[in-house]
Amino acid sequence: LADGPLKGKHVIVTSGPTHEPIDPVRYIANRSSGAQGTALARAISAQGAEVTFVTGPADVSPPTGVKVVRVKTAKQMLDAVQDALPADAAVFAAAVADWHVANASDSKMKKTKGGMPDLEFAENPDILATVSQMTKGRPELVVGFAAETDDVIAHATAKRDRKGCDWIVANDVSPETGIMGGDENAVTVISDAGADSWPRMDKDTVARQLAAKIAEALT
Ligand code: C5P
Repeated sequence: LADGPLKGKHVIVTSGPTHEPIDPVRYIANRSSGAQGTALARAISAQGAEVTFVTGPADVSPPTGVKVVRVKTAKQMLDAVQDALPADAAVFAAAVADWHVANASDSKMKKTKGGMPDLEFAENPDILATVSQMTKGRPELVVGFAAETDDVIAHATAKRDRKGCDWIVANDVSPETGIMGGDENAVTVISDAGADSWPRMDKDTVARQLAAKIAEALT
């Protein structure tokens, strides 16, 4: 473990997409690459923390020097986060699917002439809200993310209240920003202290500055 201000602290980081099965060979997913979550886990670990990195099936490899827990579904991600507690901080950078297929099939669904599958959806657990609202053993600092396309600060502030987390890291993912899938990010950190907008910088720098801010909050 690196030497740094977070030595002796345990931080959980979620990252990547989740995959929600339709049948044994098909799933519903999203385009999250896991880049920002991975950069954050690396930066938090570099500040000396012990990091449990709970990742869905991401495009990028997890950082070295962290405890990696690989999951596929939102339900598995919640279980892995709960198994990893207690923690001093939890940072939820994963793009968790909002729904799973309630009537997923145990065997491969067959193509039937003219018939379309009848998929039923059910809501997934909200990991960020669940951990934020724990009455016993809640991490001291819970951080969520919010990708918005309009009224970023208003929507993210409402999200922070709704979920009950301490900070929301909000960004504008409108196509014209080029942020989604790009190397740069421009974030606003919303906390009790208000909304703090950071200039546009590369995702590794955002991760390092957030890690430094987390270290400041926990020490
Ligand atoms: O509600 P929305 O998905 O926009 O919220 C985004 C934040 O909530 C992210 O921090 C994400 O990791 C977290 N989240 C979660 N579990 C869900 C949905 C979102 O932890 N089921």
